[in-house]
Amino acid sequence: MVKKDKIRGIDLIRFLSTPKTLQEISAEFGRPESEMEAYLEKRGKLRSYNLFVHRNDSQKLIYVYDKEKRNELIIKPRVWTYRKHEELPYLWISFPNNLNFKKIILAPISDAHYGSLAHISKKFDDYLNWIARSNNVFGFLVGDEVENCHADSPPGAIFEQMMRPKDQIISFRKKLAPLAHKILFGVPGNHEGRGTKKTDIDPLYFGICEPLGIPYFDEPVFVDILWKTYVFTMYCRHGSGNAQTKGGKINKALQALDFQEHIMFNIMGHVHDPMLDDTPRICRERNFDEDGNLESFRLVHKKQYTIICPSFLSYFGSYGARMGFSPPNTNITTCEIYPNGKYHATS
Ligand SMILES: [Fe+2]
Repeated sequence: MVKKDKIRGIDLIRFLSTPKTLQEISAEFGRPESEMEAYLEKRGKLRSYNLFVHRNDSQKLIYVYDKEKRNELIIKPRVWTYRKHEELPYLWISFPNNLNFKKIILAPISDAHYGSLAHISKKFDDYLNWIARSNNVFGFLVGDEVENCHADSPPGAIFEQMMRPKDQIISFRKKLAPLAHKILFGVPGNHEGRGTKKTDIDPLYFGICEPLGIPYFDEPVFVDILWKTYVFTMYCRHGSGNAQTKGGKINKALQALDFQEHIMFNIMGHVHDPMLDDTPRICRERNFDEDGNLESFRLVHKKQYTIICPSFLSYFGSYGARMGFSPPNTNITTCEIYPNGKYHATS
């Protein structure tokens, strides 16, 4: 037994990274077993390593150190704040006025279908990384983020997943956690809706938005984005229906303009075919002086963008290819807002 002058914590952690008996510990550190037992009991946790003590089959005490598991869901602080209406699907996002970007880019994350065999992981990971590393880019979830196929899904779909639904949710959450502070809100798609229909449990809410602190709405959401005293308006839904033609898809997206005032960004996913319509809305504008007298009136063309978001699914090998649907284009669609109140959409 070679007695060491001082027992270093790091040596204990290393030696007890695999279970050891008191006899082995005593031999390693050159001290009697009783002394080592008392010593370990007194030291207990070392750094971020927890000490576990139990007995082996011979009823001898064994000791092992194991690194404490860190919470994967440490969310970085947001630079923006939000306020949700208490009863209505209406959200205010406020960026601080001292946020001096040339523009803010709002990037939809739609139809990832994470967990599907056809999910394009490289494109999706690159997209998330771009949002994460670009200070002026913020994302929002448009639904169908997880494939979530189960027994009642269309025939065969359950066999076209690379992992079971619960693992899809856990894995997607891990992917999103590092940039959760940059995700403005989330709405579910029909694939999340499968869980809601059967169990009243939306995986987007319980598995992703709620644990990551992302504002969630279970229906289309009306969003006001406040920055530099300007208000930028958005309406966002996943979408529904079975449109196959370009015209059918854009018509479906444009329907949302039938029942509401002018909005700057009308967002839809679901049809996996990115498109951009920029038909302006003609609005009346009246200007009054301080006494309420009419100064001028005119008609203005207000820009209004309808955006269909891309998916992250490949074509060949997918349900769409087998059904003979046309392949989607692979554009990325984004919304841009500027500090002078201007706005733009790209595809
Ligand atoms: Fe989808």
